[in-house]
Amino acid sequence: MNKALRTPVIAGNWKMNNTPDETKALIAEMKPLVAGADCKVVLCVPYIDLYAALEAAAGSDIEIGAENCHWAEKGAFTGEVSAKMLKAAGVPYVIIGHSERRQYFGETDITVRNRVRAALNEGLKIILCVGEMLAERKADMTAEIVSAQTEVALSGVTAEEMKNIIIAYEPVWAIGTGETATPEQAQEVCGMIRALIARLYNSEVADATVIQYGGSMNEKNAAELLAKPDIDGGLIGGASLVAEKFAVIVEAAGK
Ligand code: PGA
Repeated sequence: MNKALRTPVIAGNWKMNNTPDETKALIAEMKPLVAGADCKVVLCVPYIDLYAALEAAAGSDIEIGAENCHWAEKGAFTGEVSAKMLKAAGVPYVIIGHSERRQYFGETDITVRNRVRAALNEGLKIILCVGEMLAERKADMTAEIVSAQTEVALSGVTAEEMKNIIIAYEPVWAIGTGETATPEQAQEVCGMIRALIARLYNSEVADATVIQYGGSMNEKNAAELLAKPDIDGGLIGGASLVAEKFAVIVEAAGK
């Protein structure tokens, strides 16, 4: 299927940045810059900023997401927030399996799968992150690692539910380092993920799935990455904290 038939999704991942007041100010700055975008625009923000973000983005083209969610509906899980709570708060998107969760907070392929299941049960749209570490790339294990992460996370996910899944390929060595994967490297893995989805489901599902690249995507390199046939958008960290930079990436995705 022609890439042009998939709507690109540019998503910001604010990580642990911005207070509620800063959230309102930054979204107010972004709104006119991304108005009428030819792609979907999502901002994933810290839990504490969600209400401020929803309020600030109301009536605009910007949709809001959380950066994680727990797999249980409720219970004794101090510090966690459930998918059910996000849904009730009116949050449509959630990032699951970000490499910083995997690296620093003990997230495993199994906990990622459980979170995916909970989010799907609530009808949330998921940005599912996968990606290899530098040592894994050097050991020529990229395809193996990314396939395993994707396959486990999607186990039990139906073809119908795949409509709510976006996959973000984020090589860990490119995140926050300023070192971007080359468009060829990013395309190779995104293409591999699409082929895997075709094997797990069918070519229709594979053709319809949005696959993003993430890892030091910025206003300078976005256009070249987004021009690749299997890269349908980006998950943007650092550059999503600056309105003008984020707007340039959104613009590039619409072309
Ligand atoms: P970065 O982060 O754009 O700052 O590299 C991307 C991400 O972690 O999603």
